[in-house]
Amino acid sequence: MTQKILVTGGTGFIGSHTTVELIKDGYEVVIVDDLSNSKIEVLDGIQEITGVKPQFYQFNICDERKLMDCLKAEQIDAIIHFAASKAVGESVSNPLLYYRNNLVSLMNLLDAMRQFGVGHMVFSSSCTVYGQPDQLPVTEDTPFQKAESPYGHTKQIGEDILRHVATAYPELNSIALRYFNPVGAHESALIGELPIGVPNNLIPYITQTAAGLRDELSIFGDDYDTPDGTAVRDYIHVVDLAKAHAVALDRLLKGANKEGYEFFNLGTGKGYSVLDVIKTFERVNKVKVNYKIVERRDGDIEKIYANTDLANNELGWKAELGLEDMLKSVWKWQKHMNGKSY
Ligand code: UD1
Repeated sequence: MTQKILVTGGTGFIGSHTTVELIKDGYEVVIVDDLSNSKIEVLDGIQEITGVKPQFYQFNICDERKLMDCLKAEQIDAIIHFAASKAVGESVSNPLLYYRNNLVSLMNLLDAMRQFGVGHMVFSSSCTVYGQPDQLPVTEDTPFQKAESPYGHTKQIGEDILRHVATAYPELNSIALRYFNPVGAHESALIGELPIGVPNNLIPYITQTAAGLRDELSIFGDDYDTPDGTAVRDYIHVVDLAKAHAVALDRLLKGANKEGYEFFNLGTGKGYSVLDVIKTFERVNKVKVNYKIVERRDGDIEKIYANTDLANNELGWKAELGLEDMLKSVWKWQKHMNGKSY
């Protein structure tokens, strides 16, 4: 029988790409999203790519009653939980919003899973849980530093909740995936990252500047202890990331997980500076990006990249796409978006 997967945040950037992979793998997908940071039109993109329009519910999963009604109506086999607020800077200025939105939602979901006998969750975590680590690359054993932001803290607490829940209720298994910097877009350019308003993240800011929608990109600091002075990150293609979710889900559904709670780094293992990204973007797309150097951004760390051995060996997953693929796909997506009203 077809297995039914609830994808919270399924119209978002990573959620929509993961939905496509799940449908390709033969799952039925039910999406819950409050559309606070995504558009309903994303469902059309998913349908164009896969031929299937997922069932869609619009609500915020902090609304426990609506969540319970949804789980009662659908016979769900597993949950992939993306829905969360993710702007680091906004979390510093509005911490209660972040703690509530990211943690009440998780607890509601876990309660609902217990009530309706759903035993598996894949959870969106982040490399932000490590803070600025003392040693690079970071392995899953690298100790967490004090969180730099309320956003990062919600991911640390979220993981602790899953660990404790798995200990208390052995029937409830979860895998947290610690993403490094997800970028890129589906090769069809029918779905991609759709920031609402002025982008916070580097890649959409680059593509919007190259497209003439923004005058200039600000590079936040060139005095870091890195080869060219700009900050270093491990960028990972969203399609590789989406495939990792399908692998983690399969592991849970098959009962192949070794612990009730597991966690994996998802990156390419390579660190690139902000200037590396801009130069590569310009070269592969033959387009210019205006930029200037400004002060460091509050809360930014200097450099981070992943050791991905555990995901490679234990999940049998490996990132296949490189920085050039990522940056070509985002430019194709940006050009597709130009002229659209959303
Ligand atoms: C952060 C979090 C990540 C979270 C993501 C979501 C960390 C280590 N990472 O990623 O967990 O999921 O936010 O928003 O906390 N930059 C510029 N100019 C810009 C924008 C960015 O120079 O206009 C630089 C940043 O300083 C950084 C790099 O580009 O060095 C990447 O920034 P961004 O895309 O915002 O992601 P992170 O802050 O790394």
